[in-house]
Amino acid sequence: MLFSYHIINLLVVSFSAIECKRFSFNYTSYPDIGGQLKYHNVPATWRDARLICDMEGAVLFSPYNSSMKDALDSEIKDMRTDCFGIYIGVNSIFSKGYFFSIEAVALGDMPLQWLPGEPDNADNSEDCIAYVDGCVADINCTELLPFVCYKKSTAMSKPICDTDDEGEPGPRDRCYKLHHEHRTWTQANQICVAEGGQLATIRSREEASYLRIAYLGLVTSDIAFNVIFIGFLDWSGRGDWRTIQGQSLENAGFDDWDSRHLDCSDAGKTCGALQLTNVKLISHWCEHTAPFLCAFPQNSTP
Ligand SMILES: *[C@@H]1O[C@H](CO)[C@@H](O)[C@H](O)[C@H]1NC(C)=O
Ligand SMILES: *[C@@H]1O[C@H](CO)[C@@H](O)[C@H](O)[C@H]1NC(C)=O
Ligand SMILES: *[C@@H]1O[C@H](CO)[C@@H](O)[C@H](O)[C@H]1NC(C)=O
Repeated sequence: MLFSYHIINLLVVSFSAIECKRFSFNYTSYPDIGGQLKYHNVPATWRDARLICDMEGAVLFSPYNSSMKDALDSEIKDMRTDCFGIYIGVNSIFSKGYFFSIEAVALGDMPLQWLPGEPDNADNSEDCIAYVDGCVADINCTELLPFVCYKKSTAMSKPICDTDDEGEPGPRDRCYKLHHEHRTWTQANQICVAEGGQLATIRSREEASYLRIAYLGLVTSDIAFNVIFIGFLDWSGRGDWRTIQGQSLENAGFDDWDSRHLDCSDAGKTCGALQLTNVKLISHWCEHTAPFLCAFPQNSTP
């Protein structure tokens, strides 16, 4: 069972790799709102819009103050669409009649006004919000609309590449990016794939020490960063540990396990993680969440 579950996961992930190449990773910076916006012109349902933003490490945008509204207007000003408007994050899916952004800001506190005749909750089925020419209307969440994702600058960690400047020899052909947000192993890899990479695999002891040096500061300041998901897993659920590309860890170049993590109590932990304090591999619960490390080819930094 576990085996086929992983295979299906891997198939889904590799298919989405093909899919994801289509949307370019193109966010525009808006310093006034401390982050970046990206307009998605392919219309989606509200739930899919939210999911796509999430996979990009962003949130479905809601303009909850005047600078955010200005940024939104600027991001969509040259965009042509036949749709009624664009989705924003505001919805009443879990609180019928009360509209909140994904960050739980109430619609009433936003610099937005209803279009004439709205909200009408037509057929008692309108739990989402469309942004139309600076105003809003309630709309059925299954309608297909373009949308805008928002990424806070602070949520971005800088990718580390070959660093001539600091004198530390980095991997020659790769960049790494640590995601601070906690995700399950599968969600983590989907996010890496959406950015044009994959969960990182480690190919040598040198690479491992390099990562330790690069990220160890985070461990001492925040112990929650000690365990990070990386790109290997138990393919059979019986100890067949391989990278997501299917290589044995030995062939991949690094199989240095933390000894405490190879006892029987580990049954059920079938996803791979790295313990940053001593750069040893450990097994971890796939459904638990942890920060994670993506790797990208050197020339395709997200
Ligand atoms: C981002 O998108 C804009 C507008 O579509 C385009 O002009 C620009 O060249 C893109 N930038 C990158 C780096 O792809
Ligand atoms: C609006 O919110 C953003 C993000 O929280 C913040 O960076 C910005 O300073 C705020 N602007 C105003 C005018 O309150
Ligand atoms: C509106 O939403 C309901 C579910 O709340 C759905 O059953 C219905 O088909 C939707 N109508 C339209 C026109 O999309």
